[in-house]
Amino acid sequence: MGFNQSPTRPQAEAITITVAQPEDIPALQATAAASWWATYGRLLSTSFIENFLARAYSSDRLTVHLADPTCHFLVVKTGMALIGFGQVGPTMSRRDKAPVAPADLYRLYLLPRWQRRGIGARLLLELEGWLRQQEYPYYGAYVHERNEPAKHFYARQGFVHAPACDVQDEWYLVKRLDGCG
Ligand SMILES: CC(C)(COP(=O)(O)OP(=O)(O)OC[C@H]1O[C@@H](n2cnc3c(N)ncnc32)[C@H](O)[C@@H]1OP(=O)(O)O)[C@@H](O)C(=O)NCCC(=O)NCCS
Repeated sequence: MGFNQSPTRPQAEAITITVAQPEDIPALQATAAASWWATYGRLLSTSFIENFLARAYSSDRLTVHLADPTCHFLVVKTGMALIGFGQVGPTMSRRDKAPVAPADLYRLYLLPRWQRRGIGARLLLELEGWLRQQEYPYYGAYVHERNEPAKHFYARQGFVHAPACDVQDEWYLVKRLDGCG
């Protein structure tokens, strides 16, 4: 073991990133709940978090997402444990006509103890590889305006704020994939 490595905290190299499968759904739900409570416990109401998790991470909803060929849904595992996930796809529907990107990041979540080790950046790179294959020139992401760690992360990954597309307490961020300014 290297000088700076801790026995209980494997390095990012020990993880695998694969396409999510239906059998991953129970672990996805557990990881989503743990990450959501840790991230939003102090930003959003308990009822909002409970309702959102029940709706957006229901087995039925996840089954539809996993089978959708227009989306790309990845899971991060260490051994058999599912420690994070991310999904991209075509623009999420909105009520207004804001000039949003042609594709969006739908979710990007890691368990707290796996954060800040480069895994989120690796996961995003894989999702962007798929978006490039689909020839999306740029894509967007929603982030809660008070989720400062995530805002730092996205800025570091090259996203810029597009205020014209903000929704209530969520910022809309955009990142180009084609190297154009
Ligand atoms: C946001 C998230 C996916 C980022 O993944 P991660 O593996 O923790 O981030 P990385 O280690 O790849 O970070 C890459 C860079 O982003 C920035 N960054 C990441 N987390 C940060 C934090 N908490 N504070 C400040 N900067 C941060 C840093 O510049 C970091 O590079 P460095 O560690 O060399 O300084 C992960 O932290 C997470 O799941 N957070 C909780 C859920 C969430 O907020 N998801 C986004 C919803 S919109």
